[in-house]
Amino acid sequence: MTNHWEGHRPEPESCREQDIGRFEILHTDGRARLGRIHTEHGLLHTPALLPVVNPNIRTIEPREMWDRWNIEGLITNSYIIWKHDELNQKAKQDGVHQLINYPGVVVCDSGTFQSYIYGDVEVEVEEIIRFQKDIGVDIATMLDVFTRPDMSREEVKNGVELTAERAQPSLQAAEGMMVNGPIQGGLEWDLRELSATSMSEHGFAIHPIGGIVPIMEKQRYLELLKVILSTIPHLPQNRPVHLFGCGHPMLFPMTIALGADLFDSAAYALFARDNRLLTPWGTVKLEGLEHWPLTTPSLFGTTPEQVRAMDVDSRCKILAEHNLDVSIAELDRCRQAVRDGTIWELAEARSHQHPALREAFLWLINTLPNRGEKSTDDNRWHNAWNWILEANVAQRGGGVRFISQESNCRPWVAVARKLLHERWKQTGEKKNVLILHGRSGPWREKVGTLVRRIRAQTREIEILVHTPIGLLPWALEDLNPFAHIQGSSMLYREVPELEWCKTELSRMNLKPEKIMLLDMKNKSDLMDSIILEFPELELHNDHIQDEEEIRMIEIEQCIARLALFANLDPDIAVQELVDCSFIHSRTRRVKNILLNDGMHIASPRMRDGGLSMTAAGAKWLHSFRKEPLPEGFENRKLEVNTHKGPPWVVIDSDAIPFVKDGRNVFHGFIKAVDSWLRLGTYCHVVDENGELIGHGTCMTTIVGMKDHNKGVAIKIRDGIK
Ligand code: GUN
Repeated sequence: MTNHWEGHRPEPESCREQDIGRFEILHTDGRARLGRIHTEHGLLHTPALLPVVNPNIRTIEPREMWDRWNIEGLITNSYIIWKHDELNQKAKQDGVHQLINYPGVVVCDSGTFQSYIYGDVEVEVEEIIRFQKDIGVDIATMLDVFTRPDMSREEVKNGVELTAERAQPSLQAAEGMMVNGPIQGGLEWDLRELSATSMSEHGFAIHPIGGIVPIMEKQRYLELLKVILSTIPHLPQNRPVHLFGCGHPMLFPMTIALGADLFDSAAYALFARDNRLLTPWGTVKLEGLEHWPLTTPSLFGTTPEQVRAMDVDSRCKILAEHNLDVSIAELDRCRQAVRDGTIWELAEARSHQHPALREAFLWLINTLPNRGEKSTDDNRWHNAWNWILEANVAQRGGGVRFISQESNCRPWVAVARKLLHERWKQTGEKKNVLILHGRSGPWREKVGTLVRRIRAQTREIEILVHTPIGLLPWALEDLNPFAHIQGSSMLYREVPELEWCKTELSRMNLKPEKIMLLDMKNKSDLMDSIILEFPELELHNDHIQDEEEIRMIEIEQCIARLALFANLDPDIAVQELVDCSFIHSRTRRVKNILLNDGMHIASPRMRDGGLSMTAAGAKWLHSFRKEPLPEGFENRKLEVNTHKGPPWVVIDSDAIPFVKDGRNVFHGFIKAVDSWLRLGTYCHVVDENGELIGHGTCMTTIVGMKDHNKGVAIKIRDGIK
């Protein structure tokens, strides 16, 4: 039988000249992204693992990596080639691709790592770039200064400054070749930030994060996270980020979730030489193994005993092949997870499999979100958490796969809670709160009648339901993700604690005089319990229900949705919707909301409990705007700015006719945005006079609006002529 990869994979085609150097982002999930880098030797899809190839020692032939593993790019070392006469001559004569016999994207490092290992290198800054240009590498690396974690602050600072000084001469010598601009800074978080901002000013194609090998070798993953979080938020979003020397698959999910795009692995070969196997949850020694921890195509049909009995070279080769199999498979898993919107979940799951990963992940979900703004460092992590939140969409397809209380810490759950807490506002004064708990949704089906019976008699009780991710006002009873939890019914069994309820309520600005917790599973008549609890309201048990009460609940639902999704002031909505009417579906759900003149302004969405505005509704919302026209792209924080209406996106006049025709707004045509614009939320597109041109959904963050120059920025629902 032949292997499926036998026979050759065709050589790559060069990307179009005008595209070379471009990084296109195709898909995102929080800060994780799927992208592709355009090069002369084809596309490099990210996240990608670049296997390290030492031109002197080839454990796996680069050509085999291309043919058998579909590897689109690898990394080799220009300093090693430059230093060895024979390699140097051959590379200059035939090019680096021929030298290592590889047709795909060749990235080259510069000798910095050698200077870290051996103390110094002999090559000059421009010389090593010119050499990389001469031998035809696709992505070169400048000679940065390796900043070790044990260096003094002064030494690190010198390293950062010297690296920054070398940026311009390196790019000049590169004459248009794509160049890596590494970020240094050791464990000095402000210097990491400084390095990121100063290197961003130059025209680098990619930013590797350097100086992290020693901390990864010691499995200091918490520090690795801190390096990442003090660096990536300060890099332009349209450039890929490479974690230099990071190649262990156990690190992929968490670092990809935080925005890493490229990895390089010498680990597959180094660990093989040391008789060790990589797995997505750590490293396993071959010695003493009876069974494989996981089987890969390379190991299939062998036993650990047979592999131990092999000669050194064969054993090293098969283990390296396994290590590459595992790494590529984990990377693929991550890519699919980004597509599915589950990369954070994968990081969460993997963190349970290794103590050092666990430590880092626990910091990420417990410490980071609770940082205030007390000290400079505190402020840094506070901003880093907001940077993660900014990239998350609150309402998304599917539900929350609730595995443990940790599932509550997923950033998009935090964003959904934040949106609810900031934007929902109680209508009228209700001194009492009733919290329904004990059962999963859909609550409308289970206790809708009870709620109507209460409403028919009193407006004095605010009704909320208890969900595993927080309290939910009845007016938003079908809101995603609160209403879409996938998990055991056990999750609803626990009675919420009163103190917790009070905290939740205060987050929604509710300070009730009385709180009643009512278990929906109670066998007795629930209405009886409510009558007993609130004697002063003089409630009764008769079944009166008139259309007016149902209508009132529906109006409350509309006000809540307009506040949440269109950021409309509930006080305005109350006045405007007094005489509104509804068109109902066969199941008596509100299908369309009409103003008193019959104008259809919006339709509630069944899918996620959201709201779809019509063009007429957009104009109606537009008429309430009081804020001035925005200028620029201000704001990095998630600020409250509640109820100022839909955020505006001011576009270039060139794009106006297209948007009026209902076409999307592309990056590069945006002149200014309101500071409360958020990814995945509703927004208005206006011209430079504030005239409404269209309305739709924002597809990126404010910083993304500024940084990106390709792709859809606003998905237009309707153009407005
Ligand atoms: N390889 C691993 N770490 C580094 C680094 O900091 N700089 C460079 N150029 N290469 C590396």
